[in-house]
Amino acid sequence: MTGTTKDPDDSEAPAAAAVTLAVCTTCRAGLPVPEDGLVPGARMFAALSAADLPEGVRLRGVECLSACARGCALALCADGRWTYVYGDLDPEADVGAILEGAAAYAAAPDGIVPWRARPVIFRKQSIARIPPLET
Ligand code: FES
Repeated sequence: MTGTTKDPDDSEAPAAAAVTLAVCTTCRAGLPVPEDGLVPGARMFAALSAADLPEGVRLRGVECLSACARGCALALCADGRWTYVYGDLDPEADVGAILEGAAAYAAAPDGIVPWRARPVIFRKQSIARIPPLET
């Protein structure tokens, strides 16, 4: 798996990823800050940065998703799809499940992944789902 996609019209140029996995890099809630000062949100972003992203998914670090009481938090979004915000994530242990959920989201044209196809953390730790913008 890779985080880049190829444009079928130009095999040399990577196409923009359709799905954004936005990770709050400033989250502190729920976990202690270690002596190195790297907050849990930054640790989760680093762990995801080191992983192979699913096809069509790009990673974006953001400062605060306004889900601070439920940090670590992330959002999955794309044009024309529902946006989902998840919280209470473990910055290291949940990386595999986050990538699994991002891949399922990328494969769902409207962003709605069947309940049973979602990783447990996405079933139980959803904070919000936001409808796609109407155009
Ligand atoms: S600091 Fe992460 S959601 Fe606010």
